[in-house]
Amino acid sequence: MFSADLYSDRRRHLKTNVNSGLILFLGNGESPINATENCYSFRQDSSFLYFWGIDLPNLAAVIDVDADTETVFGDDLSLDDVIWTGSQPSLSERCRIGGVNRSAPLTGLHETIGSAVKKNRPVHFLPPYRMEQTMLIADLCGLDRRGVVKNASETLIRSVIRLRSVKSDEEIAQIEAAIAINGDMQRVAMQMATPGRYEREVVGAIEGLAYGQSGRKTPFATIFSIHGQTLHNHCHGNRMKRGDLAICDCGAESPMGYASDTTRTIPVGGRFTSRQKEIYEIVEGMQADALAAMKPGVPFKDVHLVAARRLSADLTSLGLMRGNVDQALETGAYALFFPHGLGHMLGLDVHDMECLGEDYVGYTDRIQRDRRFGINRLRLAKPLEPGFVVTVEPGIYFIPLLVQRWRAENRFADQIDYGKLESYLDFGGVRIEDDVRVTSTGATVLGQPIPKTVAAVESCCRT
Ligand code: GLY
Repeated sequence: MFSADLYSDRRRHLKTNVNSGLILFLGNGESPINATENCYSFRQDSSFLYFWGIDLPNLAAVIDVDADTETVFGDDLSLDDVIWTGSQPSLSERCRIGGVNRSAPLTGLHETIGSAVKKNRPVHFLPPYRMEQTMLIADLCGLDRRGVVKNASETLIRSVIRLRSVKSDEEIAQIEAAIAINGDMQRVAMQMATPGRYEREVVGAIEGLAYGQSGRKTPFATIFSIHGQTLHNHCHGNRMKRGDLAICDCGAESPMGYASDTTRTIPVGGRFTSRQKEIYEIVEGMQADALAAMKPGVPFKDVHLVAARRLSADLTSLGLMRGNVDQALETGAYALFFPHGLGHMLGLDVHDMECLGEDYVGYTDRIQRDRRFGINRLRLAKPLEPGFVVTVEPGIYFIPLLVQRWRAENRFADQIDYGKLESYLDFGGVRIEDDVRVTSTGATVLGQPIPKTVAAVESCCRT
């Protein structure tokens, strides 16, 4: 955990922003797989971790802004529990580490919230994403279950996002610890991407490595696939053969729960073909251009378009696109090859704070979501600020169904050479992703370098 003062400070800022009423935080509970006592690995809610620092299930916390009190609600383990789990520090001990000096049994939560509701005092809560939390908030606040999310406090959501968006040096150190693990995962994937192996063998090895190094599960399900044209391919049943191209999009959690998220594209057998190398180096160029364009004040949407510009120019040189690059950006023809956003915020969540509402995190009143295909999936569009940590993950994909559909519709036929594209329909995809901190003057890729150039990836594959 960070110092108690840091958690107190975060809550103090929150109180100032929210200004009055009660702020209710619900931690996560255990989540059963197939029976109440057989659960998925526990993962604390990230806002709870951020403001209270306590990584235990079945807790709630309340800040009474007007009375200036902070209370964590939870129950200490009974002897029965301890027989199964071993003894644990008491709740009040854990609270002290997070700078909180009041704790109370969970039953007290109903009384605290109930009496505030009776007095018509505002109770601010974040939108829940688990049904148990939804039911509990409905119960505590006397709301209909279906109305809970829309009654979440916009003031609280905006305040939490303002605080969590800017990462302190301590948080950067955690993200870099996660990237260090991630680098090892990528290197092992490169070494294991050999003909005859199943994708799942690589996934098992790298997810095990992540757990072995930090004691935490991965922040999202690993994508490792020789069918990289499927953006989030979670099927790992293919047997790799020489000449395949595998996308490895994976992450790790630091000991304190901060995420990393990187992608490399790996030639199975250790050598890119010349056609793979051509596309790979275009994606590398897209990322380099995007990184060079990033600095405070620049909308990330513009950075996305910088990457799209490079793609359009280079695919025009290759003969897959034609015509004017400005036109390709305007019409969105480039999105045939790049149908996702350039990146997203990263922090305690892999898509940081997305549970609070993607538009709150990534958009502003002035920069609204663009509805055009491809860029409509951009999670972050607003101007960058020093301290933001974002992923930069351009890609080029050849998605047969999409190509066939657009071709049948004659869509952008003046800008795409569908005839030439035919021979790429077995290509798959390339994605390259790093985690980047916005500084006061530009942007830096975080962590120690992970093999990225064609030569570096090929060399790592052979070690
Ligand atoms: N790396 C997985 C994702 O960004 O969704």
